[in-house]
Amino acid sequence: MRSLSGIKPTGTLHLGNYFGAARQFEIMQQKNYEGFYFVADYHTLNTLPDPKKLEENTWNILLDYLAFGLDPEKSTIFLQSQVPEVAELAFILGNYTPMGLMQRAHSYKEKTEKNEVINVGLFYYPLLMTADILLYKSNVVPVGKDQKQHVEIARDIAGAFNFHYQRDLFIIPEPFIADSVAVVPGTDGQKMSKSYGNTIEMFATDADLKKQVMGIVTDSTPLEEPKDPELCNVYKIFRLIAPKEQADEMAAKLRAGGYGYGHAKKALLAAVHEFFDPMRRRREELAKNPDYLRGVLKSGSERARDVAIETIKEVKRCVGLVGNIY
Ligand code: ADP
Ligand code: TRP
Repeated sequence: MRSLSGIKPTGTLHLGNYFGAARQFEIMQQKNYEGFYFVADYHTLNTLPDPKKLEENTWNILLDYLAFGLDPEKSTIFLQSQVPEVAELAFILGNYTPMGLMQRAHSYKEKTEKNEVINVGLFYYPLLMTADILLYKSNVVPVGKDQKQHVEIARDIAGAFNFHYQRDLFIIPEPFIADSVAVVPGTDGQKMSKSYGNTIEMFATDADLKKQVMGIVTDSTPLEEPKDPELCNVYKIFRLIAPKEQADEMAAKLRAGGYGYGHAKKALLAAVHEFFDPMRRRREELAKNPDYLRGVLKSGSERARDVAIETIKEVKRCVGLVGNIY
């Protein structure tokens, strides 16, 4: 069974990315799924990123992957744009994709409803993501809840293609969403996201991490009064990180009163350090070795490309594109 996912290199990972998606990559690896995890650099182009920043963020995401436990010996870790067959497949799949399916995609709908100027790259985004998934014949796609619609689009397109040729060429992928952490709240209570500036980063400096945790928005219930943990952003993040007994203990203290949000934030900061510091140390060590990092991406991308070329040959043969020369 194959598991595949990608993250866009638009910064470094935050707790939403980790608990919502990335941790599942590692869980799949432990369960011996054949893993394909990539840095989704083509996907960032629709925002016209600064080239230097894009390059820097590409290495950042690779470091994050390795730091939280993806192992290049067990999983194929690669760079999306090193396998250009994905663009070819997206181009071919466009012909089996009704316009309406793309027009219903959240990212496109949201932006058009706000009358934002968008480019074709953004419109086309779910099709490229479909190609990412189908090219590697992935069975499961671990993602956060906001990506579920995109995986459903991939299922629809795979089904339309298979039906047209009456062949099971593409595997119909399943999204894998960890229900308990489907949406990780940010420091302001909305979904944690780079675009909302409400993140707690996995590998921020000590000072930034403190600022992010202490900046979590809470209500004005006085310290001595009882508080509802379900309405407390600090608790909602704490329970993702801390062992269950500690989370239950915090909930009980909040309910009892005499325990302030400041106390809860201090406990959260300590828990974030305890959880992520070993990964942070590994990341710092890895960052000292750019040759190793380049090697990981190079060999992973070569391995991914071998699989991709096989699928593209099969697709071309299936649709009648000079199949006889292969
Ligand atoms: P961002 O919203 O910060 O730009 P991305 O869109 O790059 O994050 O998301 C990368 C992965 O992390 C996706 O699988 C996405 O579903 C997941 N993810 C991002 N934010 C959250 C969140 N707050 N809760 C759960 N999953 C999330
Ligand atoms: N669209 C995903 C995001 O915004 C990233 C992504 C690109 C992806 N291609 C993928 C995720 C294929 C899973 C599978 O986070």
